[in-house]
Amino acid sequence: MTDFTTETPLIDMRGIFKRFDHRGDRVSVLRNLDFRIFPGDQVAIMGPSGAGKSTLLQLMGTLDAPTQGKMLFDGEDIFARSSAGLARFRNDQIGFVFQFHHLLPEFTALENVMMPGLIGRMNRAEASKRAEKLLGDVGLGHRLNHQPGELSGGEQQRVAVARALFKKPRLLLADEPTGNLDLRTGAGIHAILRELNETTGVTIVVVTHDPRLAQTMPLRVLVDDGQLIPQTPGDPRLRGRIPEELMECEPRQAGQRRLVEAVEDQVAAEQRAVNE
Ligand SMILES: Nc1ncnc2c1ncn2[C@@H]1O[C@H](COP(=O)(O)OP(=O)(O)OP(=O)(O)O)[C@@H](O)[C@H]1O
Ligand SMILES: [Mg+2]
Repeated sequence: MTDFTTETPLIDMRGIFKRFDHRGDRVSVLRNLDFRIFPGDQVAIMGPSGAGKSTLLQLMGTLDAPTQGKMLFDGEDIFARSSAGLARFRNDQIGFVFQFHHLLPEFTALENVMMPGLIGRMNRAEASKRAEKLLGDVGLGHRLNHQPGELSGGEQQRVAVARALFKKPRLLLADEPTGNLDLRTGAGIHAILRELNETTGVTIVVVTHDPRLAQTMPLRVLVDDGQLIPQTPGDPRLRGRIPEELMECEPRQAGQRRLVEAVEDQVAAEQRAVNE
């Protein structure tokens, strides 16, 4: 178990606000959000469309800065860095997987995965060896020389996961990595993420729309009214991660309540199936 009193969070978000100025209007997306993620955590973030999930992930990945508030990465005030310093940090510490995988179509799976190494001037044979190992880890050892167009959607997404892990990031951020896959294939991607977390210790944050996929992750939070609250009020696993005063918070938005009910229905149905 994580000892909140002594361990340094990998990410410590404090009083985060994010506003966008859009044609004279001010869009306030995140409002006084506090969240801590510890090394090795597996977090699922849910919430209705437009709630701010992708915005939050962009902040965690330092692709965008908060309007107000502080973000500590391993205790360091990360946005105090220069933009070159931030780029270096991102490159070394963070792996990204998106809904649409952005693989390079004219390169093989192996070449796509080793690309971050080649860009970083790594020795080609070494990069190839590492890429081959990673593709094996995601169950694609037999598809090394297929181009993206010659792979299924789930296989392409597994290549994207392997590529994101190439530089041994401490944090893997995935924004709806299973959004365009069927449930079974999506569940396979989640299983791989969990396994990678267990074998390499990489911290994982996944945004998903699907309550059944979120259910497979140990830590589950909702973006609700610009803040993060537990998906299940009072969930003891979230202690020390979200503010105490929000621990029992019920979703304040109607869309959220429907989402939570869908999860509860699903869990109840699974429980019945197990009991039968
Ligand atoms: N650059 C921007 N300028 C203005 N408004 C923005 C900008 N980026 C995002 N927004 C607004 O911020 C809100 C949150 O967007 P975000 O992409 O984080 O939502 P989301 O929770 O990821 O939704 P989805 O589930 O549809 O992906 C939306 O209402 C969006 O229109
Ligand atoms: Mg989004």
